[in-house]
Parts: sequence; C-alpha cells; structure tokens
Amino acid sequence: MNLEEYAVMYQVEDTHWWYLGMASITRALLNRYTTPGAGLRILDAGCGTGAVMTSYLADYGQVTGFDFAAAALQFCQQRGAERLARASIVELPFADASFDLAVSFDVLCEQAVRDDGVALRALQRVLAPGGRLVLRLPAYDWLRGQHDRAVHIRHRYTRRELAARLNAAGFEVERLSYANTFLFPIAMLKRLAEHIWPPKSSGSDLTLGVGSMNGVLRAVLSAEAPLIAATGLPFGLTVVAVARKK
Ligand SMILES: C[S@@+](CC[C@H](N)C(=O)[O-])C[C@H]1O[C@@H](n2cnc3c(N)ncnc32)[C@H](O)[C@@H]1O
Repeated sequence: MNLEEYAVMYQVEDTHWWYLGMASITRALLNRYTTPGAGLRILDAGCGTGAVMTSYLADYGQVTGFDFAAAALQFCQQRGAERLARASIVELPFADASFDLAVSFDVLCEQAVRDDGVALRALQRVLAPGGRLVLRLPAYDWLRGQHDRAVHIRHRYTRRELAARLNAAGFEVERLSYANTFLFPIAMLKRLAEHIWPPKSSGSDLTLGVGSMNGVLRAVLSAEAPLIAATGLPFGLTVVAVARKK
C-alpha cells in the first residue's frame, strides 16, 4: 500500500460505511461458526492499522496481529494493541497449530504477496486441526480501478478461484460467498467510467467523501450480513470465505 493509505485507513476505519458494513458481515459469519466468548487463539494476518483486532475480533478470544508494514503496527499500538509482530504472511514466525482461528482481510490480493498459495499454506500450518480461516478479498479482476492501484492490489478473485486455492492449501470450504452485492451495479459503473474518464486523484476509494450517505450505505451493506451467513450471495465486489483446516 502507499504509505499515506495507512493514515487514511486509520482515520476512517471506525466510521466509514464500507468498514462498518464489512464488520457486520464478518460478525455474522463468525457467529455462525463460533460464539463470542469462545476464548479462541486468534491470528489477524495483515492486521493493518488494527481496528478489527482491537474491536469485535477480541470478543471471540485473544488476538495476535501481524503486518509487514511498520507504519501499520504503529497505528495498532496507538489503538492499544499489544500482541503484535512484524512479519510477512508467507513466512510466519509462529509455531505449528498455535491458533484456533485466523482471519485475513484484503491481504492475499496485495502485490507484496507474490504467491497466495504459499501464504495459505503458512496459515494452514499455524492453525490447529479443525481450526478455521476467514478470508475477505476483492472480487473480479476485470473491475480493477484507481482504488486497486492506490492500495497495490495484485489480483481480484472469483469464488471458484478462491475455492481451488483453499482446497490446494489443505482447507475444506464451509462458506464461500460474494459480498457488497446490493451496491454492485453502482460500483461497477464507477469502475467502468474510470476507464473513460481517468480520475485526477491518485488516492483510494476511502478518500472519497460520501457525506450524509454514509449511514445509508452502511445500512445497505450490513443488510447483506444475515444472507451471507445463511446461504451466500451470487455476485459482488468482494468475496468472503470460511474454511476449516482438514
Ligand atoms: C488493505 S490492508 C487491510 C488491512 C486489514 N486487514 C483490514 O482489513 O483493515 C492490507 C494490509 O496487508 C498488509 N500486507 C501486505 N502484504 C503483506 C505481507 N506479505 N505480509 C503481511 N502483511 C502484508 C499491508 O501492510 C496492509 O496493512
């Protein structure tokens, strides 16, 4: 990611509709497969500036976060996170089978992760047998745009592709769904328009102000949470997965 994007992320992740809506979706998925208070050993792989690990994820157990960017870890410390490591997702400094749950949100897709198979096998190694992995990744490579360049996204995934990667790394897929489905038509038009009228700013979508629409957009995205947890959604801007170590 561009260095300035860590500061942007830190500033907006407690209030921006996308983060709040995705938190609702992740909580719904977690609540389907585990329960708050379960006392799990949790790894947040590529924890960024720490909002997830210091908020709802901590309801499910003790969270350890790591990121390869020192700037990200400094923001995590400002949030009061203590169990932190500076590491790459392809070379984890943790013992085999030392976590019950690993989450990794928008990390495997990054340019700095050249081989997502190596990263998935590393996560599989540090999970206990039967341990779960929850992933969130951007969907559809044909939707690449300015946002992807600003946050250094190497690849956007399809559901089928992610299923194959998870199986090859020794996981059994329990839920694989698209998300950000209801807003997909608007987002698709925006991304396609960027090809015709390239944006002047080089920042990510997080720098776009939506003003009073923030609450509406959050409600629309959050409304997907029970559907994704129950059955899954057939298309969207994001792909989410829950998988279990075989
Ligand atoms: C888009 S941010 C997502 C941060 C956080 N997971 C979240 O959902 O807010 C991607 C994060 O992945 C981290 N990252 C990228 N490549 C990595 C690697 N090889 N190992 C560890 N972290 C990495 C970046 O530093 C950044 O913090």
